[in-house]
Amino acid sequence: MDTKQKEAKYLMQTYKRFDIAVRKAKGQYIWDENGKKYTDFFSGISVCNLGHCNPVVNSAIKKQLDIFLHVSNLYYAKPQADLAKELVTKSFGKGAKVFLANSGAEANEGAIKMARKFGKQHKTKNNQDKYEIITFKNSFHGRTLATLSATGQEKFHKIITPLVEKFVFADFNNINSVKKLINEKTVAVMIEPFQCEGGMIPADKDFLKQLRLLCDKNNLLLIFDEIQCGMGRTGKFLAWQHYGVKPDIFTLAKSLANGLPLGAVVADKKIANLFVFGDHGSTFGGNPVSCAAGLAVLKLMNPKLLKEVSNKAKYFVKKLNELKKKYPSIKEIRNIGLLVGVELDLTAKDIVEFCLNKGLLINSPKEHVLRFLPSFVITKKDMDFAIKILGDALKCQTSKK
Ligand SMILES: Cc1ncc(COP(=O)(O)O)c(C=O)c1O
Repeated sequence: MDTKQKEAKYLMQTYKRFDIAVRKAKGQYIWDENGKKYTDFFSGISVCNLGHCNPVVNSAIKKQLDIFLHVSNLYYAKPQADLAKELVTKSFGKGAKVFLANSGAEANEGAIKMARKFGKQHKTKNNQDKYEIITFKNSFHGRTLATLSATGQEKFHKIITPLVEKFVFADFNNINSVKKLINEKTVAVMIEPFQCEGGMIPADKDFLKQLRLLCDKNNLLLIFDEIQCGMGRTGKFLAWQHYGVKPDIFTLAKSLANGLPLGAVVADKKIANLFVFGDHGSTFGGNPVSCAAGLAVLKLMNPKLLKEVSNKAKYFVKKLNELKKKYPSIKEIRNIGLLVGVELDLTAKDIVEFCLNKGLLINSPKEHVLRFLPSFVITKKDMDFAIKILGDALKCQTSKK
């Protein structure tokens, strides 16, 4: 039985997979079981930002493997404390604190729980708990019950009922729509500074600034979900550092440990001590091996690397703009750093299939949107290759219109 047959027999069929059985991955490349090589412009949905099997990160993992894998969160573990210190230093600074989880959804669950605890301490005039959370249409916050309920996309809400109350959905980049949803039970606003699954849409700077002011005025927590857009992808460590708008809480996961499961809730000083003993926990959260990987990742995330991300992004987007001039099927290019979306008037999945056949891995979060999430180790040559394949794909699909 080959991998495909075995998985069809034994794994729940929750993923619509592309026809690749991965044999190995290194840097910006993946090889399948037939030996075919692919240039990876997807990085496992922005997980392996520093390249597959990054030597520095992998050596930190190997080192920790022989020290200890797991001791339980009832004991101290140095890798957790080291990682948390680095995260705080690179973000809010003094007074902020971290809760460590295993995944993005879990990190967001933690943030949601924090918001609702905040709502127990800051009650309504009638002494009732506040609990309503405003999120956004088109958002994506995860697949657990609460994070799915927080996700502003109908298609996910149809899967299960009843959903967790009480999330309400505003229009992205529309401050009036947020204002209309605020009532005395509102406790927080949760937003991705760059909607990724929702179609690669950046928040407007002015909108985020107004959102911050609105939250301050109404004593609401502002939560940024940086799970896909954080960790250097935009050319700054965190997307909010581009906007100059500081949230009260932000969440990370995906590339925090460059391929090992790890999530984090980072809370600024005003609410850093909101959770007390027993309020939250996880057996595996902050696994020492994942934390050792995360620490190595954070140490590599220096200004030089971030500058490289911005420079590579400039080159790639310049090349995409050249393609846009040639192929009017490209309607819009949206990016911050190497978080790149291309809006088409073609069916994006046909382009994705074409590219896959030619050895280029990209993806499409929406019917007409292509998503490019290359690792930071890509070279000019890789980008030229991607542009060439994409051009061929556009030529082929345009001729079929
Ligand atoms: C913005 C955002 N939030 C949350 C999640 C959920 O993360 P995870 O799949 O690790 O639970 C994702 C995953 O794609 C995401 O993109």
